[in-house]
Amino acid sequence: MFIAPHSPSTQTTSGRNLRPWQYTLQDKLILLKEFRIGFPAFRNAMDEVTEMIELGDGALGFNGVFIIGESGSGKTTFLETLVERYPSYEDEDRTVRPAVLVSIPSVPSIKFIARRILAKLGDPLAYAPRRDNDELTKAIITLLKECRSQVLLLDEINNFLQKKGRHDSVLDLSNWLKEIVDESKVLIVLSALPLGEAVIQGNEQLERRFSAPLHLELVKKTKWENNLADFRGVLKEIDGKLPTLRRSNLHEKDMATRLFVASDGRIGLLMKLLKRAIRIAHKKDAPQLDLAILEGAFKVEIWGEGEGPLNPFNQQFVRRRLNRPGEIYSPKIQSAMKGGRGSK
Ligand SMILES: Nc1ncnc2c1ncn2[C@@H]1O[C@H](COP(=O)(O)OP(=O)(O)O)[C@@H](O)[C@H]1O
Ligand SMILES: [Mg+2]
Repeated sequence: MFIAPHSPSTQTTSGRNLRPWQYTLQDKLILLKEFRIGFPAFRNAMDEVTEMIELGDGALGFNGVFIIGESGSGKTTFLETLVERYPSYEDEDRTVRPAVLVSIPSVPSIKFIARRILAKLGDPLAYAPRRDNDELTKAIITLLKECRSQVLLLDEINNFLQKKGRHDSVLDLSNWLKEIVDESKVLIVLSALPLGEAVIQGNEQLERRFSAPLHLELVKKTKWENNLADFRGVLKEIDGKLPTLRRSNLHEKDMATRLFVASDGRIGLLMKLLKRAIRIAHKKDAPQLDLAILEGAFKVEIWGEGEGPLNPFNQQFVRRRLNRPGEIYSPKIQSAMKGGRGSK
């Protein structure tokens, strides 16, 4: 029986148009690396932020968006995608930088973060020795205006809560942020792990500037059994793009449940799992992904101890999340792993 391959031909590294069965493993992995899935929460957040930017909400004083998600939920990718939409460009007398993205270091100090922002704004003051916080902060505010910046994006703001080796208190840091927001009139987009919400919650004046946080998840965790419809849509889209000879029917209800539990509803972990599954399938010359392949991929990529009922792709698996004490997605293990295995 002839089985028609489902994937459209794709331009590969070699520049040739190939069909899936002609791909090398490297071709397949490059294809997967370039995947960008606009899952519903991602698209909602993107619409919300771009609308705020277009309306000039920063200047009007409604100035904050908080993006929340566990490690591997796609926060950094979201911010980078947003910045790509608003690239810097040269105008007559200046470089215009509509969007400025800075990642908060794990040992945060006002000085260090200020220098990072200045570096992004192209100011040599970023590297000048012996400058005090006031001078650096004033320079940031002036430059954000000069560069006609509309949005300042700070990734991993939960690092404000780090205690080790800290110089400035959470309140010092959040007040400093408030000063920049107030003075420069930029829209501010913060990303954090769920616990990072405490950063603004501890500062009433800052909190007032933010609308409700946007959660970057594939599936709402409460009552997830009834909330798989959107996720199944995403799986269907992914399945259609996977470099396999046949579709794997990832969106079927049983399979979708297993994939949700395996990835904890995080895009990064889902892609990681599928990437490994594609490697295994390639070696086996399998025409599609199946339970056995995914079971192996889960063990290698997500949880080495995930065997029998603790592996979502095993026959013995009972439909429940793997978040009991000692299990891979238990809150304790996740925080011990600094938020999980999803980071790059
Ligand atoms: N929308 C997306 N579509 C496809 N892959 C994604 C998407 N968002 C993130 N990823 C992948 O997931 C991984 C983790 O994403 P990342 O943005 O670093 O998450 P976080 O910052 O929340 O820890 C990355 O390897 C990235 O390529
Ligand atoms: Mg990140």
